[in-house]
Amino acid sequence: MTSFTYAANPVRVVFGRGTLGTLGDEARRLGLSRVLLVGSPRYADTAADVLGPLLAARFEDAAMHTPVDVTERALKVVAEHDVDGVVAIGGGSATGLAKAIALHTDLPQLIVPTTYAGSELTEVLGQTADGRKTTQKTPKVRPETVIYDVDLTLGLPVPFSAASGLNALAHAVEARYAPDANPMTDLLAAEATKLLTSALPRIAENPSDVDARTDALRGAWLAGTCLDAVSMGLHHKLCHLLGGKFGLPHAETHAVLLPYVMAHQGLDDAGEIFDLAASLPIPHSLAELGLTEADIADEPEAALLRQAIDGTRPAAPPSLKALTNQVVDSFAGAPDRIRELLSDLVQTLHGYAIRTDLTQDEWEYAIGFLTRAGHITTDTRQEFILLSDTLGVSSVVDVLTNSRTPDTTPSAVLGPFYVEGPPETPQGADIAAGLPGTPLWTDIRVTDTEDRPVPEAVVDVWQSNEDGFYDVQLPEVDGPVLRARFRTDAEGRLRFRTIVPSAYPIPSDGPVGQMLDAVGRHPYRAPHVHFMIAKPGYRTLITQLFVAGGEYLDSDTVFGVKDGLIVDFTERPGGGRRLDFTFRISGSSE
Ligand code: BEZ
Ligand code: FE
Repeated sequence: MTSFTYAANPVRVVFGRGTLGTLGDEARRLGLSRVLLVGSPRYADTAADVLGPLLAARFEDAAMHTPVDVTERALKVVAEHDVDGVVAIGGGSATGLAKAIALHTDLPQLIVPTTYAGSELTEVLGQTADGRKTTQKTPKVRPETVIYDVDLTLGLPVPFSAASGLNALAHAVEARYAPDANPMTDLLAAEATKLLTSALPRIAENPSDVDARTDALRGAWLAGTCLDAVSMGLHHKLCHLLGGKFGLPHAETHAVLLPYVMAHQGLDDAGEIFDLAASLPIPHSLAELGLTEADIADEPEAALLRQAIDGTRPAAPPSLKALTNQVVDSFAGAPDRIRELLSDLVQTLHGYAIRTDLTQDEWEYAIGFLTRAGHITTDTRQEFILLSDTLGVSSVVDVLTNSRTPDTTPSAVLGPFYVEGPPETPQGADIAAGLPGTPLWTDIRVTDTEDRPVPEAVVDVWQSNEDGFYDVQLPEVDGPVLRARFRTDAEGRLRFRTIVPSAYPIPSDGPVGQMLDAVGRHPYRAPHVHFMIAKPGYRTLITQLFVAGGEYLDSDTVFGVKDGLIVDFTERPGGGRRLDFTFRISGSSE
């Protein structure tokens, strides 16, 4: 089963014909009595009539890309009229201004969109200052209520309806290949695609076709929900790049690029979307938007963009799809699980190469990186574990395993410094063997999930010294130090002595260290002691206890810290520290 996370968008949606008539009731529902109305007179006059005595002030100067000086003027109006909520009616500019006001004031927002933009459903705000656009994401700007009134879209000119509709369609399409897609966004994206692709040609033929307008607005709502729920990818990246660099119009850029990005991603229906866009009265090439080949020559996706400049039918990479399928088919004879793992790996890797437009040089670099990781790996230096750890993969696998046993102590990554079969050591021993450091007395208990003691559990312990090194990293240390194997007593207890562990850098003189350096990350782990607890009939628990208040708890370089594993190493009256902790392990059938 594939895991996923999905959070429902908490916005209230009112959809239908003539729903603008509910504006007053919806405003009162939010407890509003002094509303600022944002939007051009074309729609706002009617909204003002519906609001009646709830209307405290109007602001008509919302502008594209939400300039901050406009927001400042609107905020003055908010203050002067003691406003308690914002109603925005119109396109992305009105919505953007309402969100910007909410960012500064936390006022509730009620949005009445008259286009298919979808931004009314997200917690993203883009603003411009001195010609520079910045984007931020915060729940503060998420509107409380959205009223979709089909009647308001009947007058939207066909070219704008088409461009705005394809912009919405792009949200749904990106949700199909988003890395964080989930069953809910799959459903939303499929339905949004169906509604929008069927509605747009009908609108082009008859802009006041109420059924077509209804489908398009419903599609836009569902697509906007996708936009909010998953991360946007290559398509949005390219649109923002071109929009920012060359000032291209937002919706039209989406409309032109969509089929090319779809083909690039290997989506089957790229040709259909190209035909759909071709049938609509909108620009069909980046050249029509004023771009030349010279403008995009240095962009990493130049091949894709070159086709979009000409507006020629996008060259789908069918050969790639066939190639991927051929490789996947080659695993047909493998045992089930191996076939599943290898097929998905190949599809993911091919998709990665396609999505990122991977170059030969980049792939050779990656192979060189792995080769260097292999060369530096020895029995006591495991670069591939470090790579898995620093990319967070070890912690992902760990969370997947641990989330199946929620009643037990959380697990944590094994790390590369575990040595099998540590020396059997009697309880009460000092495993620091005289090494300098703050003395630590531990009092550990091991229980099952019913709090019954687990006697005779084998507990392997390992940790770093005061300078942050493990014994295997120190050529001058002979034999195991700061690592031992204990057994719990009849009460499931274990006491031993050691020293308080320190923060330490993971080995950073190899390719993984170069990677951390290249991306500006530090190589440190928060101070911790490792435990591995095993007993026949129980699930083995591999975990770590972190010193509360220690360094790097928030930025552990292997993403290994979990709240339930941060423990007070308390001051001991006679000096040194104490560690008291109960590990809960589960029976292997639980
Ligand atoms: C460790 O805690 O020993 C460790 C874990 C992951 C990478 C490097 C070290
Ligand atoms: Fe460690």
